[in-house]
Amino acid sequence: MPWSPAATRGSASRSRGLAAGGAGFAYNASKTALNAFTVLLAKELAPEGFKMNVINPGFTATDMNGHTGTRAAADAAGTVLRWALISPDGPTGGFFTEGGRVPW
Ligand SMILES: NC(=O)c1ccc[n+]([C@@H]2O[C@H](COP(=O)([O-])OP(=O)(O)OC[C@H]3O[C@@H](n4cnc5c(N)ncnc54)[C@H](OP(=O)(O)O)[C@@H]3O)[C@@H](O)[C@H]2O)c1
Repeated sequence: MPWSPAATRGSASRSRGLAAGGAGFAYNASKTALNAFTVLLAKELAPEGFKMNVINPGFTATDMNGHTGTRAAADAAGTVLRWALISPDGPTGGFFTEGGRVPW
């Protein structure tokens, strides 16, 4: 499949999943599952040209946290877009923030 922005997928997650504190067991477990699912999908869909990455938008002021986040939603959206629009030789199966790749 030729590369296009639509062939790139990103999901909003947070780093370290279960190891991360403060957000509760269910939330952290769901993010851990999302992270693992992303890695599996990245391997499964690589032959078709899809890139699957997890993006952490940063602590963003939204309804989820009562707008206590320190980033504006527009800035967080910019971070997600930046990684969603990577080039055909860009990474897949990784975890990224505004600052770049984060180790699993
Ligand atoms: N905000 C942060 O600091 C932050 C940091 C890291 C990662 N994230 C992740 O970014 C993603 C978006 O979070 P957000 O901060 O934008 O939260 P948000 O403002 O609370 O928005 C959550 C969105 O999810 C929708 N939603 C909730 N339950 C749903 C369901 N069962 N089915 C369909 N849609 C549902 C809500 O729809 P309605 O409005 O219709 O209820 C809403 O549009 C989440 O995965 C979150 O974990 C956020």
